Amino acid sequence: MAKTVSIAIDGPAGAGKSTIARAIAKELGYYYVDTGAIYRTVAYFMDLLGISPKDVDGVERYIDELTINIEYDDEGVQHMIMNGMDVSNDIRTQDISQKASLISAHAVVRDVLLDMQRDVAKAHNVVMDGRDIGTVVLPKAQVKIFLTASAEVRAKRRTDELIAKGQKANYEQILKEIQQRDYQDSHRAIAPLKMAKDSVKVDTSDMTIDEVIAAIRAIVAEKVGA
Ligand code: DC
Repeated sequence: MAKTVSIAIDGPAGAGKSTIARAIAKELGYYYVDTGAIYRTVAYFMDLLGISPKDVDGVERYIDELTINIEYDDEGVQHMIMNGMDVSNDIRTQDISQKASLISAHAVVRDVLLDMQRDVAKAHNVVMDGRDIGTVVLPKAQVKIFLTASAEVRAKRRTDELIAKGQKANYEQILKEIQQRDYQDSHRAIAPLKMAKDSVKVDTSDMTIDEVIAAIRAIVAEKVGA
């Protein structure tokens, strides 16, 4: 089998990883893999069973009952299938964001998901986004980007996004949740959010989406000629 190309995009919550990764994948004709969605699916499953994301024994007891499939529709959009059910929309709440952050700290969860993520990258060229893609999941990725922005800018973008969708949004509350998630994701013992040594940092605080895409395309062109 021909060797595949992997582009790893890591960074904190709300840095714009999914928007950017999806756009780059589309331009290159690669698969876009949103790994946060997989952790969210685990959190959603345990939540339905009434298991707290902090209850490591409960999570361990029921994780084998969960089958996750990643599917792509004709537009290349990733769908999360939980025991045969498409839960792609259900996993997008603030509540599940926090629970996914807590549940992702457990070794039992990370171990199960590791092979799933590596298998996709072995079979396809991918742009994969997450927290530990360049450090743990795909340490040999040909391109590694660390996408970041100040917590204030990320909270402002999220607030504007919710308001544009006609939903209620409180900037202070969103900022607090982002800071809490940053702390949890970067202070856990296993595979914490951190920049890989060979990663290129892109701070998007003062950049438009098009500028970020152009900057990353230039890095990809330099590293893999794609
Ligand atoms: O990217 P996201 O906001 O959808 O991710 C939800 C949570 O999942 C995030 O707070 C931490 C966890 N996560 C992780 O631990 N490792 C990844 N590669 C991706 C997400």
